[in-house]
Amino acid sequence: MKIDIISVVPDLLQGPFAHSILKRAKEKGLLDVNVINLRDYTTYARAQVDDYAFGGGAGMVMMIEPLVNAVESLQQQTVYDEIIYLTPDGTTLNQKTANALSLKNNLLMICGHYKGVDQRFRDHFVTKEISIGDYVLSGGELAAAVLTDAIGRLIPGVLNDETSALTDSFQDNLLAPPVYTRPEVFRDWKVPDILLSGNHKLIDEWRHEQSVERTKERRPDIMGE
Ligand code: ADE
Repeated sequence: MKIDIISVVPDLLQGPFAHSILKRAKEKGLLDVNVINLRDYTTYARAQVDDYAFGGGAGMVMMIEPLVNAVESLQQQTVYDEIIYLTPDGTTLNQKTANALSLKNNLLMICGHYKGVDQRFRDHFVTKEISIGDYVLSGGELAAAVLTDAIGRLIPGVLNDETSALTDSFQDNLLAPPVYTRPEVFRDWKVPDILLSGNHKLIDEWRHEQSVERTKERRPDIMGE
């Protein structure tokens, strides 16, 4: 899979993909993330990419022209399955969306800044608008990093033990059960006996019950979705 990300602060995206699972995905040739600097595509003086909002009001708006220049230039190399604009007024990201996007070949993400991008760009180029939660970030970069991470780890072959994505929280609309590791006893806190029993059928049942209990208690809203 290829993920291209258009940003006005590309430096913000240098760190997140250089470690751990996403680094391994890149090394295995399963995920190729490229960050594109929007300022390379503006024809305005001093690499300007934003301007005052028509109608007035506080805050700048990202101009359509540099965005279209960048997208159309990238489209000469790549056919994108989705052009995703990260924005707080998009559809809230969930595991189902991450699962679906992990099956695509090429994604283009657009990071907004200031008051957002000119609506005409959203109307004519963007195919999906995603929010990572009901709060406002200072730009779309961290949201793009979150989305890329959520998608990247699901690409077949990226995780060593592929079943581990299947038992994540939110797959099956359940939160993950509690987990334990050595030592068996720390202070006087003991690991539940069942997990040491070696009976895998009973362990699976126990984990499922724990998942259901945890979900009922913490996230009844996602049950039976
Ligand atoms: N840009 C600013 N806030 C955002 C959010 N919550 N989700 C996605 N993109 C954003």
